[in-house]
Amino acid sequence: EKGNYRHFMQKEIFEQPTVVAQTLSSYLRREDVSVALPQFDFDLSAIRRLTIVACGTSYYAGLVAKYWFEKFARVPVDIDVASEFRYRDPVLEEGGLALFISQSGETADTLAALRHCKENGQIIAVVVNVPTSSMAREADLLLPTHAGPEIGVASTKAFTCQLAVLAALAAHMAVKKGRLTREEEREVVTHLLEAPAALNEALNHDDDIAAMAPLFSQTRDVLYLGRGQDYPLALEGALKLKEISYIHAEGYASGEMKHGPIALIDDDVPVVVIAPSGPLFEKTVSNMEEVRARGGKVVLISDAAGIKQAGEGCLATIEMPVVHPLIAPLVYAIPVQLLAYHVAVVKGTDVDQPRNLAKSVTVE
Ligand code: M6R
Repeated sequence: EKGNYRHFMQKEIFEQPTVVAQTLSSYLRREDVSVALPQFDFDLSAIRRLTIVACGTSYYAGLVAKYWFEKFARVPVDIDVASEFRYRDPVLEEGGLALFISQSGETADTLAALRHCKENGQIIAVVVNVPTSSMAREADLLLPTHAGPEIGVASTKAFTCQLAVLAALAAHMAVKKGRLTREEEREVVTHLLEAPAALNEALNHDDDIAAMAPLFSQTRDVLYLGRGQDYPLALEGALKLKEISYIHAEGYASGEMKHGPIALIDDDVPVVVIAPSGPLFEKTVSNMEEVRARGGKVVLISDAAGIKQAGEGCLATIEMPVVHPLIAPLVYAIPVQLLAYHVAVVKGTDVDQPRNLAKSVTVE
């Protein structure tokens, strides 16, 4: 079933161009270059507040989507991990939209949060990969990802498919709210349709990333930095590395470095910087300088322009294709997944079934 791949995780990483294309095709209409959602019977334009709840990697997809919902639809977003959400007695206005993101659709904390929201008058939207799951059955608006079965405990293809659906939902909500013109909707759709090819290009760096993995195998800690919509990718990169290679890793918003974690930096701590070039890049470069000035070794994941500007003096660079910012989180997910994967392979851990973890967490 793994075909030519050594692990399910590796197979699932490489499936992403195909499954993201599959997922997008059920949300984007090529004929008129528009977003189309499944049928539902509430008024999306009337939604004044969005609550997003999920766990783990699905939560990080939600963090990326928060940027999109706020940027495109101008809807305030409240987001929390499911295990915290219910216990803080969240303020839920009648008729608000609550969005749950889950690969399995069975995660106990997320399901409990969903039921709590239902009891408190929320409309329930669910982005889920298993269409027969409990969460799918309880949704008012069911938004399936078409990633196919995900076997590796570390979530990979489910994440990028979740991002694809969430981008489509954010754009659709923006259209309904009159925040995106028809022309802008076309642009968003066009960029989303570029994602599968860009994911393929990103996957072409597999060998380079495999070659740098031994640099990480002896290290105890790794920091991941990103900002804006790429900050959640720093969190995701750190989670992937921790869960399959057992190396301690932390994701930080680049600008937060100097508020504490910079004390950790010495020449034994690699710092992975996730930074496509763009308006915030200058700031990221100065954060990198701070790291380097303290002997830290930077691995820069950026595009050609970013690497040209800031690549010198890095321990390594990984060059991503030039992509529109909207699809950057999907594309930059690939190198962080591959890096974690290859480091785990070098360390000889059980990649698909890491210790202490289950694919579906059905206890609270
Ligand atoms: O099935 P779910 O998406 O609800 O699962 C949520 C988390 O348990 C899951 O993403 C977990 O963090 C992964 N092992 C991360 O790779």
